[in-house]
Amino acid sequence: MIRLKSKDEIEQMRMASHIVADCHREIAKLIAPGVTTLEINDFVARHITKLGGKQFTKGYNGFPAETCASVNDVVAHGFPNRTPLKEGDIVKMDIVAEYDGWFGDSAWCYAVGHISDNARKLMEVTKECLYLGIEQAVPGNRLGDICHAVQAHAESSGFSVVRDLLAHGIGRSLHEDPNFEHVGQPGKGLRLKEGMVLTIEPMINEGTFHITIDEDEWTARTADGLLSAQYEHTVAITADGPLILTAQ
Ligand code: CO
Repeated sequence: MIRLKSKDEIEQMRMASHIVADCHREIAKLIAPGVTTLEINDFVARHITKLGGKQFTKGYNGFPAETCASVNDVVAHGFPNRTPLKEGDIVKMDIVAEYDGWFGDSAWCYAVGHISDNARKLMEVTKECLYLGIEQAVPGNRLGDICHAVQAHAESSGFSVVRDLLAHGIGRSLHEDPNFEHVGQPGKGLRLKEGMVLTIEPMINEGTFHITIDEDEWTARTADGLLSAQYEHTVAITADGPLILTAQ
């Protein structure tokens, strides 16, 4: 069941997303060779609290930390750890905050120092995929329009779109209907309506779209060990167009 949000409810949702966006603005200043993802995680945990929010990720189905930190070939759901980031890494930080019973969710990909040309291109194309998908998030369009925009740009750039991890509706729960992969056909699928609030969160791989899950039952990696990038926003579909709630 899709829970449509009124204009008032979308206003109420802003603060949770604002907290997430503010965490990302701060992370951008912290990322550097030698910093650990656990240090970044612990900063985010404190920052969410300082801004009046609640973290959600730690303890969710047993997840061990307040953020997901996914380095290089880790696609998503990596555990923050004590391994220092090194020059050339790319790291995806995925942050969820709850405020006044509403959720916000945004992942961002960061370059650590100087990165390879292909890593840079993967990051750029993935960010473009996010915004091309968001452009399609208007009333009257179909879910397939969002997905197709992502897929067409990724694949025409020589990259692939992860299928096995899904975007989702968001509101008073982190995960609401619809759940969807970022591949699809234009004009197909669910019709988009004013009041839908979705994450759009393409995970784009340098090589194969296939992923594997580590023995920890969380860490998702590219099956070929090549890089993966991700950018995610929480987006409300409004009569005036897509409203990016987690805009930084
Ligand atoms: Co997320």
